[in-house]
Amino acid sequence: MIILRTVNDVRQFVARERGRQASVGLVPTMGALHEGHLSLVEKAVAGNDVTIVSVFVNPTQFNNPEDLATYPRKEEDDFRLLAEAGATAVFAPSVEEMYPGGPEAQPVHTFELGTAAEVMEGKYRPGHFQGVAQVVSLLFRIVEPDRAYFGEKDFQQIAVIRNMIKSEGINVEIVACPIKRAGDGLALSSRNALLTPAQRSIAPSIHAALKESVEFSRTHSIRQTHDYVVDRINAVEGLEVEYFEIVDARTLQKIDEWEESPWIVGCITVYCGKVRLIDNMAYRLPD
Ligand code: PAJ
Repeated sequence: MIILRTVNDVRQFVARERGRQASVGLVPTMGALHEGHLSLVEKAVAGNDVTIVSVFVNPTQFNNPEDLATYPRKEEDDFRLLAEAGATAVFAPSVEEMYPGGPEAQPVHTFELGTAAEVMEGKYRPGHFQGVAQVVSLLFRIVEPDRAYFGEKDFQQIAVIRNMIKSEGINVEIVACPIKRAGDGLALSSRNALLTPAQRSIAPSIHAALKESVEFSRTHSIRQTHDYVVDRINAVEGLEVEYFEIVDARTLQKIDEWEESPWIVGCITVYCGKVRLIDNMAYRLPD
């Protein structure tokens, strides 16, 4: 596996591969890799001649400086896991390389991300999706991949990136990949490494409540299902729901009746101590 540190290195590498007609898959990550990330890499390896994985903790998408400071960083382990998973190259740039002069020195550009970016994560993490759009569009312009792989754990992020490529006129196929979970149901996340053993033992209640609520939803209203999930999770000492919204999966807007959409997902954010965990669950899927 080739380690690329600069934008020029990437451009040269991709130009060489394009010269031999290779298809290119990109997997953007912030490192501290786990099986969730690796499932994206495996899909990219299977679907492209060349797979580039980016590892970059993007400062512009963190609205909370403490979250950025404590975000886990494990470059050596990450590179080993990526090589084992069959990635062709890893792009691990410095902040200066991605944002010459620092993030503040970048030209101001507000991305058109649509109403999908205004709700949930957009509401509770102001500026987050602008930062995601900034780094992902930059990566797309540097790598010019045929396909890019994203996890459904960050369900809203996929919708926002789809809107971003449309408004920016970027031509890339977005491949959505299912959530990988630990054996006890907890969605894998780099932030899980920040949980104490006691917190780790209660965190699976999030998925458990969501899963049980699917059965409950068949005989109850959206409001009742919403309250069922929130009450069950908040009843666990140490867990606190920040938001839970049952939305149309295509627009991310809240709905009031199950009949309103063929594709319905419930998106949740829960604080486990100071650690912010996100997850989601499909209630209705299109045929
Ligand atoms: P990060 O949180 O590192 O996630 C990188 C990719 O892995 C995302 O597409 C995310 O949805 C996916 N992923 C994380 N956990 C997963 C799981 N348990 N199952 C399946 N996929 C999972 O998301 C980001 O980084 C950043 O916002 C990024 C897109 C890289 C821009 O900086």
